[in-house]
Amino acid sequence: MQPISRRTALQLGTLGMISATGGCGLFGQGQSTSSPSGGAVFREPRVIRSEGGSLEVTLEAGVAVHEVAGRKARTLGYNEGLPGPTLVLRPGDRLRVRLVNRLDEPTNLHVHGLHVSPKDNGDNAFVVVAPGESFDYDYLLPENHPAGVFWYHPHHHGMVADQVYGGLYGAILVEDVEAPAVSRERLLVVSDITLDGSGAVVPPSPMEQVIGREGELVMVNGLVTPRLEARTGERERWRIVNACTSRFLALRLDGHRMHLLGKDGGRFAEPPATDQVVLAPGNRGDLLVTVGRGDGVLRAIPYDRGGMGMMGGDGMGMGGSSSAGGPVRLAELRVTGTGRGPGAVPRFPAPRDLRGEPVGGRRQLVMSMGGMGMGMGMSFLFDGREFESDRIDQRVAVGDVEEWTILNDSPMDHPFHLHVWPMQVVEENGRPLDRPTWQDVVNVPARGGVRVRVAFDDFGGRTVYHCHILDHEDRGMMGVVEAS
Ligand code: C2O
Ligand code: CU
Ligand code: CU
Repeated sequence: MQPISRRTALQLGTLGMISATGGCGLFGQGQSTSSPSGGAVFREPRVIRSEGGSLEVTLEAGVAVHEVAGRKARTLGYNEGLPGPTLVLRPGDRLRVRLVNRLDEPTNLHVHGLHVSPKDNGDNAFVVVAPGESFDYDYLLPENHPAGVFWYHPHHHGMVADQVYGGLYGAILVEDVEAPAVSRERLLVVSDITLDGSGAVVPPSPMEQVIGREGELVMVNGLVTPRLEARTGERERWRIVNACTSRFLALRLDGHRMHLLGKDGGRFAEPPATDQVVLAPGNRGDLLVTVGRGDGVLRAIPYDRGGMGMMGGDGMGMGGSSSAGGPVRLAELRVTGTGRGPGAVPRFPAPRDLRGEPVGGRRQLVMSMGGMGMGMGMSFLFDGREFESDRIDQRVAVGDVEEWTILNDSPMDHPFHLHVWPMQVVEENGRPLDRPTWQDVVNVPARGGVRVRVAFDDFGGRTVYHCHILDHEDRGMMGVVEAS
């Protein structure tokens, strides 16, 4: 329950990573519309692909030095990457990860969104890897695993926000058996961080933790406003990961056409055209971008995720929410000539629709914030309780389809995430969706609710659901579900 875990502070402090001055670092300036481009050429993390049905990789969680916006920044990273390497898999693959902990505090690994067993050395959120130790994870993707964009990050309760914010994240792509034809595929891992003038991570204040910290610098693949080049008429596929600990991304690319293939591991039969895609923390977007005539900017426009409800609910000012500083320029698209025109937007087989299937159980979960005051006294709850790792909050039967109604009894949005089993979102604020989407993070609006259906088809075991504003998760907005 420290603003930044004491051990992280010690470790980072030793390495000169914690700012003595705090706040307002030089790095934080220039994220407004008027800021000059960081000027970096777009690049992607290193790619590691499965071969012959398997991928074996060692991921070392440790401290790393990077150039961010032209200066040396000391962050965390997997294999010194910011982000860590991209793992590319196919349905049916076996993924083995040796996680080596080079931090001064416990950590572990979660493969966010993968439909794999939560037991033993699978996607087990309860594993603790002590400093200096390592752990061998072994995941087997089912043959019918959905294609999509997934990611990995630490999940040690109480330290998740600090470790992800510090730089521990990477993407996992599960490839289509038949990939849509595009002129280029790109991966954009978006994250935010605040650095001081010496390149040290600035820890959030207690108040920022209550709201959910948002870094002043928003990066794409560790770069500030990188420049991408493409040609008019070309169609590209952009996979975008929102790895920010609390920041919602309302993405726009004005002047260029976007079609949404799906979010997370979901896929539309007929990808809709869209001019804005909202990714809550933890969400991923899989997009087709048809390049228009002029240059463009990928922007995250302000998104009101509510606040503490103390300042007239404008979402700004004290206790207010995200992106109060105006739109963020994530990347610049430079258009250089004309390419071959795009073909038709691809179609896909209709996804499973649980609305037509018998429901074996219905339950309601309520997310709330309790206690008084803005500081460490505020608690974050599911059904009035804080997370306890050895209490089982929901017991479900393997094989059942369940309907969960998730209510938000607080003045700010909470993105709800369930491990292992994806959710079909069927209703938002009482309004049925005509095109229910499959996601693993679904935003539950302030004072609102969503209804999802979940097929607990396979994989018995114990795992968690939680708010993906990671400061809230660390403070207890998490529960345990067991399928048997
Ligand atoms: Cu990405 Cu349990 O989280
Ligand atoms: Cu997850
Ligand atoms: Cu939350």
